[in-house]
Amino acid sequence: MSNRMWGGRFESGPAEIMEEINASIDFDKRLATQDIRGSLAHAAMLGKTGILSQEDVAAIEGGLKTIAAEIEAGTFTFSRALEDIHMNIESRLRDLIGPAAGRLHTARSRNDQVATDMRLWVRDTVDALDAQIADLQEALATKAAEFAAAVMPGFTHLQSAQPVTFGHHCLAYVEMLARDRGRLRDARARLNECPLGAAALAGTSFPIDRHMTAQALGFDRPTANSLDSVSDRDFALETLSAAAICAMHLSRLAEEITLWMTPQFAFIKLSDKFTTGSSIMPQKRNPDAAELVRGKAGRVLGALQGLLVVMKGLPLTYSKDMQEDKEGVFDALQTLSLCLAAMAGMIRDLEPDTKAMKKWAGAGFSTATDLADWLVRVLALPFRDAHHVTGRLVGLAASKGVGLEKLTLSEMQEVEPRITQEIFGVLGVEKSVRSRVSHGGTAPANVKREARRWLARLAKEAEKRRG
Ligand code: ARG
Repeated sequence: MSNRMWGGRFESGPAEIMEEINASIDFDKRLATQDIRGSLAHAAMLGKTGILSQEDVAAIEGGLKTIAAEIEAGTFTFSRALEDIHMNIESRLRDLIGPAAGRLHTARSRNDQVATDMRLWVRDTVDALDAQIADLQEALATKAAEFAAAVMPGFTHLQSAQPVTFGHHCLAYVEMLARDRGRLRDARARLNECPLGAAALAGTSFPIDRHMTAQALGFDRPTANSLDSVSDRDFALETLSAAAICAMHLSRLAEEITLWMTPQFAFIKLSDKFTTGSSIMPQKRNPDAAELVRGKAGRVLGALQGLLVVMKGLPLTYSKDMQEDKEGVFDALQTLSLCLAAMAGMIRDLEPDTKAMKKWAGAGFSTATDLADWLVRVLALPFRDAHHVTGRLVGLAASKGVGLEKLTLSEMQEVEPRITQEIFGVLGVEKSVRSRVSHGGTAPANVKREARRWLARLAKEAEKRRG
């Protein structure tokens, strides 16, 4: 049997393998809600403009609402023979209300329909992701406030560089996540134009009101060019790109959690809630959730690459290749959502071992810069000379196998005779972080203030979201 939605000129149905490669219903059924929202707006507009009779519109609306309820209840039967979500819903509408169902597709095509559905889905998802990222920021800022003064080693090249505070480290991620939210917001602002009514590619001869449907669906305006409307997937690419950067950030944090969890670092503890054991090594506690967040970033990054490659070289306008946008977008954004939730859980769960962190904060001559700065400030040495003197002191301490603070005053004076007892005041890690009061620096006072500022801002936003 030929396809009842478009099979007029066909005599037989598709080969089995044709149906298998062609059908998208297995994954685009996720668009059901958005598809029905779009159809309701379209039908109302067709009624308002007099293209359809009010009776037909009423029947269509009633039928679509029944279908929404069936899908919600899980009683709707999705059929592969009907290819995709659009035709599955239209076909069921025909079962429910008869021939009026066939009028719903007046002045539209699946090309503008699917573009509208996808924009709605991405927009809904971006809004949900924004709230989730905010929640993770809240978890991090809370830890930051609690551990604003907890000293830990700061690294460059993964070598001990200078002491920093754990709170400062947490707030670094809060900043990254703020930029992620900004990128998603930007993508959302650009995607918020409605392609519905572009029809197959050229627009339509029916007197439709695209402003009406755009407004009904919460879009800022209808898209301006019908060809662009059905062939554009920038909105998906931009969102995936923002998602990929966010996933990359999460993966860096996940890597740090994994590192900090090792017995060699032992900076943090994760409870039984976020760790697993080994089936052979009874002593082990593995940070699987963190490792998976790190690993799943690969999927999100891959989805961005995948869609870029699908789109590159496609001539205007719609090509079936574009059906390949869906699985990657769905999977990537759902994966990001899962990672955000797991990360927020881990951050709330983790307990820093402030003693271990402090011990290692002083390792690797991490206060050498403080010593050099003292030489500049107190002895008025040019920084380059101070750097050289400090380098010699570090060499001396290293050769004796001690930290800088364990050198005696006379040992120091052999290198630079003007050094006084006062120098020992800057060699402690706590002193070091307390002195870093420059804008954006790691001083506990800064960190406390920044953490409080973030928490207040996030609380305000959350309140606004709750309405
Ligand atoms: N399932 C299709 C997609 O996701 C819907 C659009 C089909 N359009 C067409 N002309 N065959 O891209």
